[in-house]
Amino acid sequence: MSLNLAVIGGDGTGPEVVAQGLLALEAVAKAHGFGVKTTQLPYSGEHYLKTGSVITDEEVEALKKFDAIYLGAVGHPKVKPGILERGLLLKMRFDLDQYINLRPVKLYPGVETPLRDKTPVEIDMVVVRENTEDLYCGNGGIARKGTPHEISTQEMIATRFGVERCVRYAFEIARTRPRKLLTLVHKTNVLTYCGDTWYRTFNEIGESEFPGVKREYHHVDACCMYMATKPEIYDTIVVPNMFGDIITDLGAAIAGGMGIAASGNLNPSFEPGESSGGPTPGRRGLCGGGPSMFEPVHGSSPDIAGQNKANPLAAIDSMALLLTETGRLKKDTAMVQAGEHLNAAVMKATPRFAGKKLDRSGYTTSEVGKMVLDLL
Ligand code: IPM
Ligand code: MN
Repeated sequence: MSLNLAVIGGDGTGPEVVAQGLLALEAVAKAHGFGVKTTQLPYSGEHYLKTGSVITDEEVEALKKFDAIYLGAVGHPKVKPGILERGLLLKMRFDLDQYINLRPVKLYPGVETPLRDKTPVEIDMVVVRENTEDLYCGNGGIARKGTPHEISTQEMIATRFGVERCVRYAFEIARTRPRKLLTLVHKTNVLTYCGDTWYRTFNEIGESEFPGVKREYHHVDACCMYMATKPEIYDTIVVPNMFGDIITDLGAAIAGGMGIAASGNLNPSFEPGESSGGPTPGRRGLCGGGPSMFEPVHGSSPDIAGQNKANPLAAIDSMALLLTETGRLKKDTAMVQAGEHLNAAVMKATPRFAGKKLDRSGYTTSEVGKMVLDLL
């Protein structure tokens, strides 16, 4: 039993924080008795500037032989916005069919929230963001560009298949949590086509397959207001891609900011451990696809890169998420426990930052890494 991991450190502070996540991985793997094989891959803005290529189809295909992907951060001041986002991050999400973006919004002990009077009891939710459809498909175009008659369109896509698998996954998460409450966030009063597909699918799947889970619906604008005023009304949220992008930044902010936000891009139908050699439908899900990818939500912070200043807690917590989720997919209890163990150590570390800003704590990257190792 072992973990075959692809590591993409990426740009800026990405490689530094990832290095701390890997040290934590080494420690928990040893404690829980499984092996780890890591393969470092160069994809990044730096790599693009050197080679002219972000990542090729063959290189993405080669990722399918891994159990999981651990990503630091991509983003380079000399690379035009959009190139790495579409060419690397979104390409991996789409080509590997990572159809769930899992973003826990949980206020850890000692972490400062901008919401007065809110404590870890009130801020504890999981956002399940659809990750392969919606405005992110990139369908659309521009005609008569640069003329007064310019016309541009960008289409919102919702497929029954895509919505159904996302909603089903969200119900499953909600069912395992004590409150058993799932809230759909959309804008059905204006987006009457895509919203209708989501609303009906949500209620049909909920009623027929998850009668024990309570359902609620909120418009996305109201959701933003409630997240800032009464976040305790949320437990599990399911949301389409674009709205999910927005509300999870708000979620990260109320839970202490980007310094601590972890995320997973999941393909729950992928069975890790298969040999590569092209998608095998059925075993890899209807769309083929590949392994899940885990990353801190924060960017590459080029201003402090290489100075041992970046806080690695979000990267370390993303490693914890990687282990629990990959362990679940591989049906490997030791790996799940290793992830929970590591997450518990992160939650023991956060009180040491009480009264400090996570991104300006005064601790170096390696000091925070060592702190987590000591707390394991
Ligand atoms: C995120 C990011 C990405 C997104 C960008 C970088 C393409 O904002 O992971 O939330 O919009 O999904
Ligand atoms: Mn985002």
